[in-house]
Amino acid sequence: MKNFFSVADVDNLEGIVQEALSLKAGPFDHEQLGKHKTIGLVFLNPSLRTRLSTQKAAMNLGMQVIVMNMDKDGWALETRDGVIMNGTTVEHIREAAAVMGEYCDILGLRSFPSLKDKEADYTEDLFNKFVKFAGVPVVSLESATRHPLQSLTDLITITEYKQKAKPKVVLAWAPHVKALPQAVPNSFSEWMCKAQEEGLVDFTIAHPEGYELSDEFTQGAALSHNLDEALADADFVYVKNWSSFKDYGQVYPVNENWLLDNEKLKLTNDAKVMHCLPVRRDLELSSEILDGPNSLVIKEASNRVWAAQVVLKRMLEALK
Ligand code: CP
Repeated sequence: MKNFFSVADVDNLEGIVQEALSLKAGPFDHEQLGKHKTIGLVFLNPSLRTRLSTQKAAMNLGMQVIVMNMDKDGWALETRDGVIMNGTTVEHIREAAAVMGEYCDILGLRSFPSLKDKEADYTEDLFNKFVKFAGVPVVSLESATRHPLQSLTDLITITEYKQKAKPKVVLAWAPHVKALPQAVPNSFSEWMCKAQEEGLVDFTIAHPEGYELSDEFTQGAALSHNLDEALADADFVYVKNWSSFKDYGQVYPVNENWLLDNEKLKLTNDAKVMHCLPVRRDLELSSEILDGPNSLVIKEASNRVWAAQVVLKRMLEALK
């Protein structure tokens, strides 16, 4: 594995999940692999889980870790070519990425979308430029359109907790007060669609009208505008808010109740409930579910380490 950006970088989902679970059983089995190798984790946006789990995964593999909070501690970054930098930007991504590549064997980048410029976001302009100029392998710590380490974690968690060979998995839109990116639901959908192709899950997406995700991420998924109908017989419910893709970054008023609570959970097959976190309690997901027996959110966050570790292991092996 050279770079890790999407599900397309993995050829066998069951294989990578089983390898991640073997790392969970023996976290230090490959602690020599990363000796004298350095990973640089570059954040243009906030993070708790991605930052700490990727650091821990790298340390388990014997790597040295550098973390750069580029948004707070770095120079203001210019990404456009052909502009005279006489405004607020101080350093061009061409130099910044290339210099970081000189210090590190692998780089990780978190870069959220603008939610204003759909074309720049959906062509992954910033992430692709970073990869181009870094000159070393790059792992996505969440880009404008995808969050692959989260999605791999989610597949690992579903595999661990499923009670039938092919569980019904529902991605359920949830309310929020802010316009959020589509990266997590895009990515979850992309991974679940591939898992469905491989016979591992049945996958449904439920959202109010106007919140359709881009078709490129939802091929093969069953789509519903009715949460109660979608929840019928669900084994896993993955709760997440996102803003409109069509009317890019906009938030529409929704009159129906899309907040998952214990009453709605009765419609399911005693479903396990997942969320990538951070979550706004009783806005996005009810406290009674978060604090109840069906919540997997902490176990899911814990599995972030093994998703990161299997990806870094494969990237280190490809460096040789
Ligand atoms: N789920 C997730 O990526 O969490 P952070 O934004 O805290 O890293």
